[in-house]
Amino acid sequence: MARIVSLDVGHSNTRVMTVDGIESFPSLASESFISPEEVESPTYGRELPYRLCQPSHWLVGDLAKEQRGAEPSTAPDWPLTESYRALVRTALSLATKSFHIQLFIFQSLPAQSMAFKEDVEAFLLGKHLIEVRGKKTQTIEVLGVKTVPQGVGAFFSHHISEDGRVTGQTPGKVAVIDIGSRTCSFVGMNGFHVLEDELVSLDLGVWIVEEATRAWLDRKNPGLCKDITRAELMDYIVTGKMPYKNGDLDLSPLVDPIKKRLAEQIITQAKSMWGFAYDREVVVTGGGSLLLDGHFSQAYEHAVVLGEDAALMGNVTGQYRIGLLGARSR
Ligand SMILES: Nc1ncnc2c1ncn2[C@@H]1O[C@H](COP(=O)(O)OP(=O)(O)OP(=O)(O)O)[C@@H](O)[C@H]1O
Ligand SMILES: [Mg+2]
Repeated sequence: MARIVSLDVGHSNTRVMTVDGIESFPSLASESFISPEEVESPTYGRELPYRLCQPSHWLVGDLAKEQRGAEPSTAPDWPLTESYRALVRTALSLATKSFHIQLFIFQSLPAQSMAFKEDVEAFLLGKHLIEVRGKKTQTIEVLGVKTVPQGVGAFFSHHISEDGRVTGQTPGKVAVIDIGSRTCSFVGMNGFHVLEDELVSLDLGVWIVEEATRAWLDRKNPGLCKDITRAELMDYIVTGKMPYKNGDLDLSPLVDPIKKRLAEQIITQAKSMWGFAYDREVVVTGGGSLLLDGHFSQAYEHAVVLGEDAALMGNVTGQYRIGLLGARSR
C-alpha cells in the first residue's frame, strides 16, 4: 500500500511526516564537488542522511552549513531550484526505510509560491532514484501530490485528530495567518475549503527582524555580526540577548520596536482582508507567531496562537491528517 507523506519545506526548516512521526532538518543545501573516490574514503563516515549521492552530490542540513557555510535561500523562485530539490529528495529518503516504495504526498507552498505548484508537482510525481550516504539506493515512486497554501495544514491540525477524524463542529469562516521566516501567508477559508480570492502572501517573515537588527548592530559596531549566521542571530533575537565581550547584550530595546512594526504591518494586511474578523475563527501560526505573539492577542482578542510545537510543526502535522482524512473517506 502507498504511504502517506506530508512535506513542509520552509525557508528555515524542512519537515516530513509519516506514520512513523516527524523528521526535521535545517533547509540548507550546498552542491558538493567531491570525487567519487573521496566519497568512499572513511573520513566521510556514514553521515546518514545528510549527504545525498544520487542523482547528484549535495550536502544537506547542518552538514551544508559546517562544510560549505550554506545559508538559507531567499530566491523568489526557490521551489524551482536544484537546492530545493535536494531538500525534497532528502526528506523523501527520510520518509521511508524501504528500497522500493510508493508514496502519496501532501505538501504546502507559501501562498505567493502557489504559482509554482504545477512545476513542483511535476518534479515530485513519478519515480525517484535516491541515494544518501550509508543507505542503499532507494526507488521512490510518487503516485499523487496534493498542494495546499502554507497555513492550511496548521488549521487542519487544530480540527482533525491524530487518526484523521474531524473533531468538534465543522468550522465556519476562518482566517489563518502563517508567519514564517521569509514569508507570511494569509489564507481565508470557509470550513475546510480555501477561498482562492482570500489568499495573499507577503515577504513579511521574521527574518525582517533579523535583517534590521543586523544592520543596526553593524552601524554601531562594524564587523560585530560578520561571523554570526542568520539562524544564530535569530536565536539571540528569540532569547533577547547575545554574547558580547564578557557578558550579554540586552537586545530587547532594539528588537522590541522592530517586532512591533512587523506585527503592525501583518495586522494591517489582515484587517484589510477580514476587518476585525469577529465573524470568524482566527488562527495564527508559524515560528513568527511565537515571536510576535503579544501583538496578535491585542489586535484579535479571539485569535488562537498555536503553541510552540503546533506553530512550528502545524503545517506538516495537519497536511498529514488531511491525507488520513482522505484515505478514511475513500
Ligand atoms: N519559540 C520561538 N519563539 C520565537 N521565534 C521562534 C521560536 N521558534 C522558532 N522561531 C523562529 O521562527 C522562524 C521559523 O519559523 P517557521 O518554522 O514557521 O519558518 P519556515 O516555515 O521555515 O519559513 P517560511 O514559512 O517563511 O518558508 C525562525 O526564524 C525561528 O528563529
Ligand atoms: Mg512555514
